[in-house]
Formats: sequence, structure tokens, C-alpha cells
Amino acid sequence: MDEYPNRGKRRFPPKKKVARRGGWKPPVKKPAGRKEQGWDQVAAWYDQLVGKNGSDYHQHVVLPAAMDLLSPLKGKKVLDLCCGQGVLIPLLLESGAVQVTGVDASPQLIESARARFADDQRVSTEVADACADGKWADASFDTVASLMAVHDVPDLPAMCRNAAAALKSGGEFVAIFMHPCFRIPRQTHWGWDEGRKLQYRRVDRYGVDLEIPIVTHPGKGGGETTSFYHRPLAEVMNAIGGAGLAVTRCEELVSHRRSQAGGSRSKGEHRAAREFPMFLALKAVKLP
Ligand SMILES: C[S@@+](CC[C@H](N)C(=O)[O-])C[C@H]1O[C@@H](n2cnc3c(N)ncnc32)[C@H](O)[C@@H]1O
Repeated sequence: MDEYPNRGKRRFPPKKKVARRGGWKPPVKKPAGRKEQGWDQVAAWYDQLVGKNGSDYHQHVVLPAAMDLLSPLKGKKVLDLCCGQGVLIPLLLESGAVQVTGVDASPQLIESARARFADDQRVSTEVADACADGKWADASFDTVASLMAVHDVPDLPAMCRNAAAALKSGGEFVAIFMHPCFRIPRQTHWGWDEGRKLQYRRVDRYGVDLEIPIVTHPGKGGGETTSFYHRPLAEVMNAIGGAGLAVTRCEELVSHRRSQAGGSRSKGEHRAAREFPMFLALKAVKLP
């Protein structure tokens, strides 16, 4: 049985037809006229998970790396693309950004962001699809940041083109997302090699686009679902480059989490945690 009946297609190089197990089927398409709403169906869960200060991963890995890559921000006009409920926005303002616009397809998450920054004249928000043309992509921004969203949008080349369109010439794009080689929901796992006393990272699938359903409360049953779009690394890089954004910096970020188990596996588990990056961070500049 096909474990992921919604699986996507290999998009690069482009092919007219896609061979899939069970014979050729047309690629999965949204019903015509359905408005993109991002993570709206899981907004309450995500808002609670992230809270005011960010999830555990935000606080220890993603936000510190983002602020390092985004600096200096003094005097800058910044677009937070797929901003969610705005976890990055206070840090941008603290670092001297003069104006921040948050764009996200989820009306509920934008409402949470609005409620948080209602009294701050420097912040504006907009419900919009990052993959569709929009007035916000108006070549006026010094910086575009996008955290944990590259794998959540259905059309990455379009999102990158819009990020580039939002930037002034020479402006910078910073994106941090789950590492496409080592962290693919349901397809990557930790394993233990007893003979070599090492923890390894097992990658079951990598080279083909996948649309992976993510259930928000898997243990409880009846959880809401959203989609994770896995794309091989080359496809991500080509989407960025194809939009006229030249990568100037790349960081592979490891998890801050370490095994608490102790005992004979402790050394191997610690080594693996340092060895396999869970997130990829890219900084790119808009070419003239
Ligand atoms: C994992 S959340 C990250 C949110 C925020 N950047 C953060 O770090 O907390 C992914 C976000 O992407 C948004 N999103 C997904 N598809 C989108 C699209 N096509 N256009 C705009 N936002 C989208 C979701 O609504 C959600 O807020």
C-alpha cells in the first residue's frame, strides 16, 4: 500500500507526467477557487505551541540563528514572510528595525499577530498568500525573513520570486527551515548501531518531492492536519537562485537537545546530535 497517497511529483527537471506507484495520476491540485489559508486549520494549536517567546526550537536554535543572519537591522524595513503569529517581530524591533510587515495566509494567525502589536505603529500585518502576486511585494524592503515556512508553502519558486520582488536591489533574504537532507517528517529517524556503538540518522526517502500530512495531536486522535512539502536540496537552491537571489551564507544548525539517558549510549547520542543538522539557514542577496 502507498503510505503517502498525496505524494507530490518530482519537479526538477520538469516533467509532463510523473510515474508513481499504482500508475500515473495527475498531480494533486487544490480545488479551483479555494483560497490559500496556510496553517489556519491548525492556528490555535500553533499559537499555543509558539506562545510569546517561541517554541523550544525557536528559542534555542532558530531565533538566535535568524538574528545572527539578519543583523545589522538598525534603520531597516523588514518583511516577515509567513510570519505566523509574529514570534520574530519583537526581536526585529529590539534590534532597530524601523518598520516590520508581517504577511501570512492564515487569518487567525494574523489576528493573533495584530492583537500582539496593535499599539505599535512600526508593525503592520496582512493576510496574503506568499505564493501569489500581492501589493506587499513592492520592492520597498531592505530585508525579507522567513522562518520555518519554506516547507509549508505549496509553490516554493513562486514564494521566492515574491520575496525577491518585495526587496530593493541589494536587499537580503534570510530563510531558516527544516534541513531537507536530515529532517523529513516520517522519512528520517534516529537508529542505534550496537556493534559500532553509534547513533545513526536513517533517511528512508529524499530524492522525490513529497507532500506529507502532519497531524497536530497524533496521540489524541481527531487532530487537525496540515501539509509539509519535502523538496530535495537542489530544488530548494534552484528556487532561490531562480528568483534572482544569490546565496551568500549557509549555516547547518544542530539541535540543542541532548540525550538525558546517560549510560552506554550517551557518548554516541551526543556525537550524533552534533553531527546531523536539523535546520538549514540561508542568507541571500537580491541581484541587481
Ligand atoms: C511553521 S509556521 C511558521 C510561522 C512563523 N514564521 C514562526 O516561525 O513561528 C508556517 C507558517 O507559514 C504559513 N503559510 C503556509 N503557507 C502559506 C502561504 N502559501 N502563504 C503565506 N503563509 C503561508 C502558515 O500559515 C504558518 O503561519
